[in-house]
Order: sequence, then structure tokens, then C-alpha cells
Amino acid sequence: MKIIAVPNYEALSRCAADIVEAQLRQKPDTCLGTVTGSSPEGMYRELVRRHREEGLELSRIRTVNTDEYVGLSGTHPQSYRYYLEEHFFRPCGIPSELTAVPQGDAADPEAECRRYEALCSSHPADLQILGVGHTGHIGFNEPADDFPELTHLVDLAPQTLAANARYFDDPDTMPRQAITVGLGVLMRAKRILLLLSGSGKAEITERLLCGRIVPQVPATILRLHPDVTAVIDEDALQLVRAHAPNLIP
Ligand code: GLP
Repeated sequence: MKIIAVPNYEALSRCAADIVEAQLRQKPDTCLGTVTGSSPEGMYRELVRRHREEGLELSRIRTVNTDEYVGLSGTHPQSYRYYLEEHFFRPCGIPSELTAVPQGDAADPEAECRRYEALCSSHPADLQILGVGHTGHIGFNEPADDFPELTHLVDLAPQTLAANARYFDDPDTMPRQAITVGLGVLMRAKRILLLLSGSGKAEITERLLCGRIVPQVPATILRLHPDVTAVIDEDALQLVRAHAPNLIP
């Protein structure tokens, strides 16, 4: 795992956008594995700026998102489809037909998991963007007794519900389940760009980089992937700098 230490969130977002831009210039029809949450927000903003002000071309990319809340349609303001359309796809001129997000309001969620798994298998990500939840989840792969391989339904952990409640006007209406790609999809990505920011991620960053590779911290499996670049700001790195400084270039 290549670690790029950056001073703050703004630098993290610029660095992540640099990596995505370089990928798109090298392969304009890149399949980009997207993710939502606060970690990638600044990167998406910077990519939109570069598209609008510097002519960065994104109209040929394909995107595949890691997850979606069960029960939310793509037009629900708190759905991941809606977020990505508003903050990335539409502003960057990415045609919706080239984008994929699990269908949260599918009549048969288990069938949707199977459909989405097949779609991801036919479109492996050239570059998969990932954040890491406070529980160590990637996508919505929550701590468990094994590493789930396939796209599946997941009961969201209490800590995850608490962390994501901020996005819902009435937390009681927040879905308790999600559809998430499994670790098989993520580990088949050619390259992974991992983003970690803030003192709230210091503990999980240390467990990710220094702890044992266990399904109770799902993100640790990324240490077995051959091409991961982790862009981490100093607030998130503070415990690693204190306990394992040799890990940081
Ligand atoms: C969210 C998303 C993940 C995201 C993670 C971290 O629930 N399902 O895709 O990577 O939790 O989010 P954040 O970047 O806001 O910490």
C-alpha cells in the first residue's frame, strides 16, 4: 500500500483529483468505482471545477458505485444515486446511462444484488475510490465474522447509522439496510484510491495500517491488494505517526 501523507482535507482532495485526472487522461473510457460520504466530497468538487474551468473530459467514463440504501429511490434526496447525480455526474457531463448505482427501491432486493454483482463483474473498476467508515467498513461491508465476497444486503451497524444520520432530516426515516458490493468486487479493481481524513479516522487508520487483517475491520483486506494508494491527512495519521512512524514515507 502506497501512503501519500498530506497536510489537510483540501490537499487530500486536490491530490485525489490529480490521481483521478491522470487516470482519465491515460484511459478516457475508464471504469471509475465511485463512493459517497464526506471523504470524497472535496475530490468531486475539484473534478467538477477542473471540468468546467480546465476542460477535463469525463463524458466517456463509466461509473459503478459501491452501495445504496434499501428503500430509497434514485430521486430521494438522501439516496446515493441522487447525491452522485447532483454532485458529480450532471455537473461533469457524465451520461446517466454510463453510470451504475444499485437500485435501492428494487421490488426484490436479493435479485438486485445478483443483477448488480453481474454488472460489476462485467465492468471491473480501473480505479476504485474508497473511504473507510468509522467501523472500518468499505462500501457498506460492515464488521463481520467473514469477508463477504458477493454483492449483498447488509444491516447497517449502529455506529454507521449514527454517523450517517446527519444526512437525514428525520433520522427515524433512515434506512436500516443497504445493498453493497462485496469485497470480491473491490479486490478485483485494478487500482484502489483510498481516502482518509480527520482526527475521527485516526484510530481506524492505525487499525487499517498496523492491525491484523481481520473481517472485524473489513478495510484491512485492502493490504492484500497489489495497487492501493492511500491519501491520508495529518489528522488521520496522528496515531500512526506516534506508534509506527516507519510506515509513513
Ligand atoms: C458511508 C459509505 C461508504 C463510505 C463510508 C465512509 O456510509 N457507505 O461508501 O466510504 O461510509 O464515509 P465518510 O467518508 O463520510 O467517513
